[in-house]
Amino acid sequence: MEYWEKRFLDGGKIWGEKPSKTAIHALELFQRHDVNKILVLGAGYGRNTKLFTDANLEVVGIEVSESAIKIARNLNPKTQFFHGSVLDMPFNDEQYDGIYSCNVLHLFLKDDRISFLKKCYKQLKTKGFVFFVVFSDKEISFGKGKRVEENTYEIKPWRPAHYFTEIDLRDHFKEYSVIKTGLIEDVENHGDLGPHSHILRYIFAQKE
Ligand SMILES: C[S@@+](CC[C@H](N)C(=O)[O-])C[C@H]1O[C@@H](n2cnc3c(N)ncnc32)[C@H](O)[C@@H]1O
Repeated sequence: MEYWEKRFLDGGKIWGEKPSKTAIHALELFQRHDVNKILVLGAGYGRNTKLFTDANLEVVGIEVSESAIKIARNLNPKTQFFHGSVLDMPFNDEQYDGIYSCNVLHLFLKDDRISFLKKCYKQLKTKGFVFFVVFSDKEISFGKGKRVEENTYEIKPWRPAHYFTEIDLRDHFKEYSVIKTGLIEDVENHGDLGPHSHILRYIFAQKE
């Protein structure tokens, strides 16, 4: 929590105001499947929630960093935010047509990933859709840093990342009917790293 709070306090809109390419792809799929009301988990400062509300989706975000939420409330006042950890969901009794989460699931160790996904399942309507984006095993940082679990490394102290293979990602969503998976290259330019790209893996799946 402190790690993220400091990152947004120091860096503000770290990844700029434009949405992730993955959010653009998720929006196309959500619209094709008549998804109207979505939950965005680890929503950050709202670069992706803005894309969704601009397309007239009803959006609720959950975010652990208060500084990120403050920025988001300016950038994207149409999104309702809950401040807290996704591991403490639910924050309300609603069920959603869809869930979008970008670069959050890979931040957790195995037990927390499983617990997080169980909570997501409960917040989704039957026949609802999930679009999750995670670090892939094709990432340049894969294997670097201290190994803490299978395919999980601390690239920075106290900040583990799990790198998903295709099989592993499908296995995390085995209670769903998988519609589509793939890799997306997302270019970023921030901090000491300067311009660099991530090879992200995504899954689009439906609750049965
Ligand atoms: C890599 S950033 C991605 C932010 C946003 N999804 C985006 O693409 O702009 C990860 C985000 O997850 C948030 N986060 C980390 N752990 C969380 C938790 N346990 N509950 C809720 N949010 C969390 C961080 O504060 C941060 O905003």
